[in-house]
Amino acid sequence: MWLIFALLQLLPQLTLSTRCPSGCVCDIKGSTKCIGNITDIPLLDPAITFLLLLDDTHIKVLQERSFQPFSLLLRMQITHSSLNTIHPEAFHGAPQLRSIKLSSNALSIFPPKVFSEQSNLEQLQLDDNQIISISSELFQGLVNLIELDISRNRISQLDANVFQILTSLNFLNLAGNQLKNLPQTLFHNLRQLKSLNLSSNQLETLESGTFDHLNNLLVLILQKNQIQEIPPRLFWHMPSLLTLLLSSNQLQYIPAESFYYLPNLTKLTLYNNPLISLPDQLVGHMQRLQELHLYETNLATVPWNLFANMTNLRWLYLHFNKKLSSLPKNLFCCLPNLMKLSLKNNNLKELHTEVFSGLISLQILLLNENKLQSLPATIFQQTPSLKILDLSHNHLRYLPGNIFVHASALKVLSLSGNKWNCDCRILSIAEWISENQRLINDLDKGVACHEPHHLRNNHLQKLTYEDLQCSQGGFQTFTSTLIATMQQTPLIPPTAEDFYVKTSSIYNNDPAFYNTIVLDDGPEIVHNNHYNGWVYLWTVPSRGPYSGFMTFLYIVLLATGVILILASVYILYRLNKVMVVLGAVAMGGGQRIMTRKIRSFKVQL
Ligand SMILES: *[C@@H]1O[C@H](CO)[C@@H](O)[C@H](O)[C@H]1NC(C)=O
Repeated sequence: MWLIFALLQLLPQLTLSTRCPSGCVCDIKGSTKCIGNITDIPLLDPAITFLLLLDDTHIKVLQERSFQPFSLLLRMQITHSSLNTIHPEAFHGAPQLRSIKLSSNALSIFPPKVFSEQSNLEQLQLDDNQIISISSELFQGLVNLIELDISRNRISQLDANVFQILTSLNFLNLAGNQLKNLPQTLFHNLRQLKSLNLSSNQLETLESGTFDHLNNLLVLILQKNQIQEIPPRLFWHMPSLLTLLLSSNQLQYIPAESFYYLPNLTKLTLYNNPLISLPDQLVGHMQRLQELHLYETNLATVPWNLFANMTNLRWLYLHFNKKLSSLPKNLFCCLPNLMKLSLKNNNLKELHTEVFSGLISLQILLLNENKLQSLPATIFQQTPSLKILDLSHNHLRYLPGNIFVHASALKVLSLSGNKWNCDCRILSIAEWISENQRLINDLDKGVACHEPHHLRNNHLQKLTYEDLQCSQGGFQTFTSTLIATMQQTPLIPPTAEDFYVKTSSIYNNDPAFYNTIVLDDGPEIVHNNHYNGWVYLWTVPSRGPYSGFMTFLYIVLLATGVILILASVYILYRLNKVMVVLGAVAMGGGQRIMTRKIRSFKVQL
């Protein structure tokens, strides 16, 4: 009794193994997998074959009614084979098929009605072939199709009604084709669509209304096209959208209010577009947006309220914008959850004192590879969570000594690759650096003086009071006294002594100390010149009641000088002529000649 029972259990497996062709693996659940040197659909047991997987085969042609014998077959695939021809009735007689996968073959043409009996088909994958065009009849009959993948082919055009019948479609992948445009009504019947991938095509424009009926769409991928323009309100009818990828296109402008009514958006990418400007009203409420990529653009600045509706943003990548030179004061006002802000590789020259003041959760701030010369002392006062700060490879000449006092959470700070100017003003930050060396992760790469010449490459953390020669009254004090004196008496033109500052007396024994004087604070226009160890200095206040008058005086002075020089040259020239005449007289010329000469000279004069 026991033995019979066991035999009965084994029976199906025994029959199965006898019927499984060589080169194939058949398993008890009804799947057959064949690899290698087969050129046609193998002979299988129709009573137990549910799933047929043919991979890396030599099948070139799919014959008429290839699957008719397998009345139980639900899913089939022929992939990575040399399949290039499909008989117009290849799938006829197998209406029960749910999945057909013919990826990575050499198919270029499909007979128009090849799937006409496939009303149960749910999944059709024709990706990675050589398909050039698709007949508008090809998908007729696929009323239950859920997933269609025709990516990585060579399709350049689609008929407006090619997807009309696919009302159950959830997933449509058209990426990696050569589509230049899309008929406006192409997707209008796809009301169940959840994911639409159009990336890596050659789309240049999109017509307004193209996506208007896709109310259930969750993912829309438009990246890596040539889109130059998007019509206003293109995305207004996709309230469920979670992901919108527009990166790597040719967008210079985006219409105002383009991203309104996308309350569920969690990911938006705009990077690698030649954006020139963004409108003041761009983004509606987006409570769920956590990540924004806005890099590799041509933006010089951005509207102050750009992020105002993205209150939940965690990661903001606003970097590699080679022209981005200023940030509005309140730009990051409303981002209490922002944890990482990358502003690296921009063209920032200065930052407003309060620009980071709302960023209470900010932990990582990347400001490296900009052109920052200094930073306001209180800029990090309201960023209590700041842990990692990168200021390397800027043009930093100074930093206020107390700038990091409030950044109590700071763990990693990068400062190398700057242009530290080691005069007396550097002392306080140099002291802070020296005391906090463990926080600075790039001391070995050189946090060192750039100027003056004799201190070049001296490490900031090792600078001493004596190195800086601050004890004899610094240069800064001297010039500011001079400027202050001049500003107090703007109406009196400066005397000669005011113009000449003998540098060698200040920087004893090093007359080549400075070639130019650059004053960091103050609104003055500074004119300076350098000659024989003397520096000629002359400042004009750029603002204030007398600035116009001072500039005018300066110009008058210059002009007078030039006129005087020209006049004296002319007089010398004249004198020379007189001398020649007198010379002639002395050499023995007659009285007559002399009087005539003198008379004619008078006339000429
Ligand atoms: C923020 O979203 C609301 C609602 O969509 C909108 O009225 C407002 O103009 C948006 N603000 C900005 C700065 O775009």
